[in-house]
Amino acid sequence: MCGIVGYVGRKKASGVLIEGLKRLEYRGYDSSGICVQHGGSLVFRKRAGRISALEEALADAPEIAAGTFGIAHTRWATHGEPNEANAHPHFDDDGDIALVHNGIIENYATLKQFCLDKGHVFHSDTDTEVLAHLIGEFYHDGASSLEEAVQLALREVSGTYGIAVMCSGEPDKLVVARKGSPLIIGVGSDEYLVASDASAIIEHTVNVIYMNDNEMAVITPDSMRTVTIDNVPVTKEIQQIEWSLEQIAKGGFEHFMLKEIFEQPEVVRTSLGGRLDLRDMRVQLGGLGEIVRDLVKTHKIILTACGTAWHAGLVGEYLFEDLARIPTEVEYASEFRYRNPIVEEGTVVIALSQSGETADTLAALREAHDKGALTLGIVNVVGSTIARETDAGVYLHAGPEIGVASTKAFTCQLVVETLIALMLGRRRFMSQQSTERYLKALAEIPDKIERILAQADAIREMVADYVDHDNWLFLGRGYNYPIALEGALKLKEISYIHAEGLPAAEMKHGPIALISDGMPVVCIAPRNATYAKIVGNIEEVRARKGRIIAIATEGDEQIEKYADNVIYVPDCPVPLQPLLTVIPMQLIAYYAAVARGCNVDKPRNLAKSVTVE
Ligand code: F6R
Repeated sequence: MCGIVGYVGRKKASGVLIEGLKRLEYRGYDSSGICVQHGGSLVFRKRAGRISALEEALADAPEIAAGTFGIAHTRWATHGEPNEANAHPHFDDDGDIALVHNGIIENYATLKQFCLDKGHVFHSDTDTEVLAHLIGEFYHDGASSLEEAVQLALREVSGTYGIAVMCSGEPDKLVVARKGSPLIIGVGSDEYLVASDASAIIEHTVNVIYMNDNEMAVITPDSMRTVTIDNVPVTKEIQQIEWSLEQIAKGGFEHFMLKEIFEQPEVVRTSLGGRLDLRDMRVQLGGLGEIVRDLVKTHKIILTACGTAWHAGLVGEYLFEDLARIPTEVEYASEFRYRNPIVEEGTVVIALSQSGETADTLAALREAHDKGALTLGIVNVVGSTIARETDAGVYLHAGPEIGVASTKAFTCQLVVETLIALMLGRRRFMSQQSTERYLKALAEIPDKIERILAQADAIREMVADYVDHDNWLFLGRGYNYPIALEGALKLKEISYIHAEGLPAAEMKHGPIALISDGMPVVCIAPRNATYAKIVGNIEEVRARKGRIIAIATEGDEQIEKYADNVIYVPDCPVPLQPLLTVIPMQLIAYYAAVARGCNVDKPRNLAKSVTVE
């Protein structure tokens, strides 16, 4: 959730580190800090608030500007409030070891007592500071080098970490290690960069090494050595980052979220590319390899995820049961991991995750793996932990998603689920004719998304009329019920308007009591078998003076009689409708947040990648 950057090379480190932090700010942004080696000392600055506050603090720190070796961190608080004392880096007692850390040291209370008993004095409320003291304790008592002290300390730790450590006594060395929190090393010419996320270093190099759990690297300006925490040498492969800097920048849009909403036609094309074979009228998913046979035979699929990805899982339940006729369940990852689930032989567990690093999803996956399930990942970030720990998987190819509110990754999750469902359906029972109908319709989805995006200005104007209301409802049925949930989540997370999503028929069983004069109710009502039913629900809302924004199929003029506003989406087969109906949800949320003056890309209290429980 926080962000780490490190630099070892010949450039001025502070420039590289601050730029890297800015690119990582979406991961956590309540405080930040930087530490640079200069003349045998560790010079640092920390600030609460945004990276710009830290940048200002560097104006009076010429030693920091001069250094060519350093570490930096942007924080999203877990232990201790977001203030300067709790910002990273943290130091040992003598101030000669500096550490930045992502993750959580679960046994920090025990380790802190150990350090207190040894006479260490603490200056923050964080779990991280304990690790700095522990490394210092070993460094000054027994260890022959910084890396050995780090190894000894990490062996005592339970929890998760991605760390970067430097020491004034070994001024040319940076030690990094990971367990459960992402860390990569960029290999440039005459320089190494360290980051918790590729976006921080892509400006400098596309050659990276992905660290695995329990691995450590010892980096100097001229060399890099990788070992396990138990000091067994590990040979690592240099891989290439596929994303470009341009892809990571805002590309002229006011916010990353808007850019990412508008990228959807393109990323859906990319996600379908090479997989949707219209010549032979079939689906090809290379990432599934030999596992396809097991998938075809499975008697149960469990989809597990969190938040928006969980909503994608709910759509997946409809897709896998409807198109592939495989019994499917969807589980919040945080519930699945703790409820001792029954995972019968042959069950396939699919984890959905944009980041591939969400702690609960990863833990659910490991639980499923330990119980003998075949595990698959539907993941965006290549080389992420979930991608690496699953038996097989399909990447989203949505490109980097920087806006905290997930949009294009969600749409691509639906694309990948649809492809898997069609592939399995065809192999199990689906006729060639039906398969062809769906595949052709899927190929048309990017153009249809473009048609919806063309209404963005009209949606912005319409939303302006509703944004003063603090309570909204979102109603949908069947395939569009998860989209109602997603619409409500998008609205609340970025505009702070309270919103609830419901299967429309459930409204009568309680929530209808909420409807009052002028309350906005978004009804997702495209043409399908439940159209008449949802029109009935719309009438119930109108009778209680709620205001209706309907999402309807192009050409449906009848709905204008019931709705105050209508956003039209092109027609398509029912299982593909969520790919279109979600677009107005995203635009409504975005324009509502902008109209209310909210920071769309960095909503309060949220971080992009939730790598702690
Ligand atoms: C909401 C949102 C979150 C994520 C959730 C899972 O817009 O982005 O609800 O969907 O935290 O994240 P990933 O997909 O990275 O596992």
